[in-house]
Amino acid sequence: MRTLTGITPSGSLHIGNYFGAMRPAIEAQVRGDCFYFIADYHSMTSVTNPVERRAHTRGIALDWLACGLDPQSSVFWRQSDVPEVCELTWMIGSLTPMGLLERAHSYKDKTAKGIAANFGLFAYPVLMAADILLYDTQRVPVGRDQKQHVEMTRDIAIKFNETYGETFVVPESEIRDEVAVIPGLDGQKMSKSYGNTVEIFGDEAVLRKKIMGIKMDSRTPAEPKPDADKNLAIQLLRLFAPANVALDYENRLRAGGLGYGDLKKALFEHYWTYFAIARARRAELAANPDYVENVLREGALRARAVASVVLQRARKASGLE
Ligand code: ADP
Ligand code: TRP
Repeated sequence: MRTLTGITPSGSLHIGNYFGAMRPAIEAQVRGDCFYFIADYHSMTSVTNPVERRAHTRGIALDWLACGLDPQSSVFWRQSDVPEVCELTWMIGSLTPMGLLERAHSYKDKTAKGIAANFGLFAYPVLMAADILLYDTQRVPVGRDQKQHVEMTRDIAIKFNETYGETFVVPESEIRDEVAVIPGLDGQKMSKSYGNTVEIFGDEAVLRKKIMGIKMDSRTPAEPKPDADKNLAIQLLRLFAPANVALDYENRLRAGGLGYGDLKKALFEHYWTYFAIARARRAELAANPDYVENVLREGALRARAVASVVLQRARKASGLE
């Protein structure tokens, strides 16, 4: 069962990325045959500073390795090190109806927010489809916001197969209900673009301040809170604390007597401890940039070995060869 996913290096990774995409991907490693990459071509639609792109790409490589990506068993590479994906983008883009791309939520959301549309932003799902199809992917672990892109990939694969004969594997998304949408500090979906994130790694004082700054209602600590299960700090605590501990806080909040300050303090401590081992590992890796660069280079060689076979199949089927 081949599993593949990518993360765009457009900022620091947050706990929404971690629970929605990274952790399922890391856990999938026990199944074997995992392909994970840093989607640096995708970052070109939002990041235009080369220094920033390099820094984010490197930072995300460190994040993945620190969180448990095992480069011995999984193939881990930088998207642009296998530029064949751009050739495939053109081949499948030529079969992708405009209407399909016009219906993409992410494109509609971005343009509605006033982000100027350009070809890259519009064609983004086609590049993503090429990422998936180029490696004969069967499973794509992602958060719910990416589901539509995987569905578009399926449509594109089916269209190509109908037009040129069986060429591509038709993939499926893997979305875990319990972590499909991790809420941000303001209760909306956590996203780099909404400025409501809790980073996986970062400065302790800054992160403590972010968590202590979560807005709560004005009920007094003593008041019972029958809606305790919907409290944002409780929802986040469930991600980091053992189930019985989170439930205990929820019950205390419901009964009255637990202040929001104490709850947020507990949330911070559990969050900080949760990533302690990964944090130490990240610091070690950061001190060894050659190691990380080598991992990505070797990963690109392994990725390319698969990509070239699939691309040739598509070239033959479509009459380019
Ligand atoms: P962002 O919205 O912060 O820009 P990306 O679009 O780069 O995040 O997402 C990278 C991966 O993380 C995707 O698989 C996406 O579905 C997942 N993801 C992002 N935000 C969340 C969230 N709040 N909850 C669950 N998964 C998320
Ligand atoms: N578009 C994805 C995101 O913003 C990143 C991505 C690029 C991806 N190519 C992919 C995810 C292929 C899964 C499979 O999060």
